[in-house]
Amino acid sequence: MNQTPIINKEIKGNQFLYTYLEKETIIAKIGGVFIVPNELIVLRQKSGPTPATNALRLAFVEDFRKMPACVIQVPNVPARKAMLDWLYEVGFKIKYKKYLYFKDLKTFDYQPTALPPFTFKSLADADPSYFKKCLFEAAEGDPTTDTATSNPQKFFDELADYPTFDPNHWQMVYLNENLIGFITAKLIPEGEPNEVEGNIQLFAIMPAFRQKGLGKHLHYRAMGYLKEIGATIYFGSTAEANVGMVKIFKQNVGEMEREQLFLGL
Ligand SMILES: CC(C)(COP(=O)(O)OP(=O)(O)OC[C@H]1O[C@@H](n2cnc3c(N)ncnc32)[C@H](O)[C@@H]1OP(=O)(O)O)[C@@H](O)C(=O)NCCC(=O)NCCS
Repeated sequence: MNQTPIINKEIKGNQFLYTYLEKETIIAKIGGVFIVPNELIVLRQKSGPTPATNALRLAFVEDFRKMPACVIQVPNVPARKAMLDWLYEVGFKIKYKKYLYFKDLKTFDYQPTALPPFTFKSLADADPSYFKKCLFEAAEGDPTTDTATSNPQKFFDELADYPTFDPNHWQMVYLNENLIGFITAKLIPEGEPNEVEGNIQLFAIMPAFRQKGLGKHLHYRAMGYLKEIGATIYFGSTAEANVGMVKIFKQNVGEMEREQLFLGL
């Protein structure tokens, strides 16, 4: 019984998998640990708080201490309460929060607003370096650390690697011939059966055009666009501290569905 626990750590690209073995039998796992661009870690605990799981978690925390820029993402839901309590106990603190919003697009009927129509120019039709340069200018000011501004090239490369990535769905948005913002649409088919989630990976208004109501209008247009390209559910999220975006969600989608906590040591 007095056996040394074997903690097997597999790192495949950005995926971390910590496995706890006894006599070559897997008895606990922390899987799906995912580092997205700019050092964001998602930790999903698969098993309950057994001694084995705790040994595994402690090993993870020790590795985590070596990566001070990292944060763990945990949904603030009752099912994760025990895990959150444990993370607080070992010293994790909330760094920032995100709000998550969903909208059923099957019943959503986009109606053109009073503004002149937005026109789009896609990445497929644009000079890619100009597109990128303006995209990163537009992203400036987002209070989260996992967006284009903190590591633009990595952000761009990783999104372009996603299986449903389509340069026709990444749009520079014009109003009266001015470039006013971006919608970079992403379709996520692997969620609910018979549903296709649609997300704007980076939604942004150019700094010179902010606080004029354009964000609200473009976000509403973006949900219509996602429906046009095949999404059945809209999914959006933003940092609690992004006051303008939280207002846009409240007006265009309603109340948030749940909260994501981002914790660091
Ligand atoms: C967030 C963002 C898209 C808002 O665009 P915008 O064109 O300024 O938004 P709107 O003018 O439609 O404003 C919507 C509401 O938020 C308010 N608002 C916008 N920015 C605000 C700010 N910085 N502080 C306080 N309130 C703000 C507006 O006054 C308006 O309120 P009202 O409906 O009560 O009149 C824009 O600031 C941006 O692109 N930021 C950087 C990228 C980013 O954060 N994207 C979102 C990632 S999820």
